[in-house]
Amino acid sequence: MGEAKKLFIKTYGCQMNVYDSERMAEALGGQGYVATDTPDDADMILLNTCHIREKAAEKVYSELGRFKPLKAERPDLKIGVAGCVAQAEGEEIMRRQPMVDLVVGPQSYHRLPQMETAVQGGAKALDTEFPEEDKFEHLKARPKASRGPTAFLTVQEGCDKFCAFCVVPYTRGAEVSRPASRVMAEARDLVERGVREITLLGQNVNAYHGEGEGGDWSLARLIRELAEIDGLERIRFTTSHPNDMDDDLIAAHGEVEKLMPYLHLPVQAGSDRILKAMNRKHTAESYIRLIERIRAARPDILISGDFIVGFPGETEEDFQQTLSLVEQVRYGQCFSFKYSPRPGTPAAERAHVDEAEKDDRLRRLQALLTRQQREVQDAMVGREVKVLFEKPGRMPGQMVGKSEYLHSVHVAAEGLARGDLRQVRITESAPNSLGGVLV
Ligand code: SAH
Ligand code: SF4
Ligand code: F3S
Repeated sequence: MGEAKKLFIKTYGCQMNVYDSERMAEALGGQGYVATDTPDDADMILLNTCHIREKAAEKVYSELGRFKPLKAERPDLKIGVAGCVAQAEGEEIMRRQPMVDLVVGPQSYHRLPQMETAVQGGAKALDTEFPEEDKFEHLKARPKASRGPTAFLTVQEGCDKFCAFCVVPYTRGAEVSRPASRVMAEARDLVERGVREITLLGQNVNAYHGEGEGGDWSLARLIRELAEIDGLERIRFTTSHPNDMDDDLIAAHGEVEKLMPYLHLPVQAGSDRILKAMNRKHTAESYIRLIERIRAARPDILISGDFIVGFPGETEEDFQQTLSLVEQVRYGQCFSFKYSPRPGTPAAERAHVDEAEKDDRLRRLQALLTRQQREVQDAMVGREVKVLFEKPGRMPGQMVGKSEYLHSVHVAAEGLARGDLRQVRITESAPNSLGGVLV
């Protein structure tokens, strides 16, 4: 064997892509690649892409354009596109950017080793199938290298909900859950390698129903079993759909100490008319009642959400109902977007809201959400939280970690190390983080 080849992966989009990038790097590790953090000395560049909004998809083409001089200088450099743009656009990518050697969809990346061999032989490789076989079963066992204190773990993929604006059911395919025994084994392995916090991932993670001992396991069952693993200190999960929050999962938030008091529960809009047009299959009222039940089980839980403004047909009055829902819920964290028409989705065919109007609504919604986020964060001052430290801070002697509520917390103290889980009293609240002292 010669010198190791270098692989540069750039990841866009959601946490599921972050997890997939790790697995793709591991798969190519078997082909003799080691990771590099710059495209400049890479033998292969892989963009793991996101198709959720127009801007995200266009970024891929502008990024590819930037690699042109590298490819001209080093014709042996291989360039690949993975992820949701690969799935949605397939061959079109090679047509628009002929220097692309490899296109692989999110359900076929276990075939990367063969594809890599093909491109080394000078061929182009394209695979955007939804294969019958489970990619996880065909990926090599994960390497035993030690890891940082936090990890993502994909337990469910795909979506059957077909919200009228969303590409995910098309790019990720139908909802599939991984068998519970595989998830448990992967979690134990991560913990042995130093992980103390696991975030369970799925496009609709709370619809999880993995084959397990005694029948299918729900997400609640999975969480309760994971909580028994010694050394695993924290469990989180994302992203959930309101209609899949069952009673047991709500109860788990009050009962399972290792399950962190943070829930990302997107609602998208506050007008029932718009929710119906979005095919969300819930109302604003049912969402608010659901939040009340979750808060009854776990009063201090921090609620996070996603919003879309300017969905086709949204009037000022509909938008006011979104603001009113936000006032009622009191979010601790939020993501909000202008509606972006996506090819192939039902809503893309409808009459669009004026762009300037969308901008204005986004600005007003974000002002409210930012104020709420700030209030929730400021209210932490004086309280004690537990922080899992992840990395050094900007100031010398400082470490940064996350509280139970996923707030970033800075602490300056002697001897603090990555992976420490310590009690901290919050003393200050800055725009995007908290500061505190060890108790
Ligand atoms: N599966 C998750 C997340 C889907 S994508 C869920 O169901 O909540 C993440 C967020 O992107 C969505 O919650 C939505 O707010 C936003 N989004 C999806 N499609 C969009 C589009 N076409 N335009 C603007 N925002 C979109
Ligand atoms: Fe997209 Fe809706 Fe599925 Fe979420 S639930 S991934 S928004 S279709
Ligand atoms: Fe984007 Fe695909 Fe995730 S479209 S948000 S990378 S599932």
